[in-house]
Amino acid sequence: MRIDVLTLFPQMFEAPFSFGIFKRAINHKLVSINLHNIRDYTHDKHHTVDDYPYGGGPGMVLKPKPIFEAVESIKSDICAKEEVTALPIILLTPQGRLFSQQIAQELAKYSHLILICGHYEGVDERVREHLVTDEISIGDYVLTGGELPAMVVIDAVVRLLPGVLGSETSPLDDSHVNGLLEYPQYTRPAVYRGWSVPEALLSGNHAQIAKWRREQTILRTLKRRPELLDKTNLCQEERQLVERLTSSPNRSQLSLDKESIE
Ligand code: ADE
Repeated sequence: MRIDVLTLFPQMFEAPFSFGIFKRAINHKLVSINLHNIRDYTHDKHHTVDDYPYGGGPGMVLKPKPIFEAVESIKSDICAKEEVTALPIILLTPQGRLFSQQIAQELAKYSHLILICGHYEGVDERVREHLVTDEISIGDYVLTGGELPAMVVIDAVVRLLPGVLGSETSPLDDSHVNGLLEYPQYTRPAVYRGWSVPEALLSGNHAQIAKWRREQTILRTLKRRPELLDKTNLCQEERQLVERLTSSPNRSQLSLDKESIE
């Protein structure tokens, strides 16, 4: 996958992509990340990227011309090298659709992405209307710019690309992949400061382990994000488990400090 990022602060992206899984993915050419400084696409001697809003008001607005020219230049570079059928051009903005694991999976299917990091009071509306194909928000809060959101999106997408994580199967167990939260994980020692690893995990019995994990997934989701369960297909036995746990005598089990199923 090739990801092109338009930003006023390309240096912000250096650290997150220089370590661990990301560095390996880049070195193994599973992904390439090209950073473009929007300022490089200006033509005046002050390299002006923003201007006052028409109609007045606080803050500055990013001008359309450098953004259009940057995207057009990236597009022609991509198209000169290969045939592309779909090329999402994504603006990071608190007004966008709310980012989720599902959207990460959707984006991971493309061979190219262009991300535009907004700044200041916003971006000239013509960029939204006539250039971008998608707008993404990483949450209902306002950050100083689209750089951190772009990093979040890139991270969530890149780890889904084939070969990026050590084991091909590991993203499948992630929280949110099946619409629920992941079960608790333990490693050695079996007893630490008197706290034992749940017996089911030590049993070596795969069916028992799978059952315990599924129950824990449901219990944890019920405790922390009950609304997720409404959107998930559970089998009859699992539905009964939810009903049992939410029935009045068992409700105390749903406090966050107790995670056992009786
Ligand atoms: N830019 C500023 N805040 C943002 C957010 N929450 N999501 C995406 N882009 C943003």
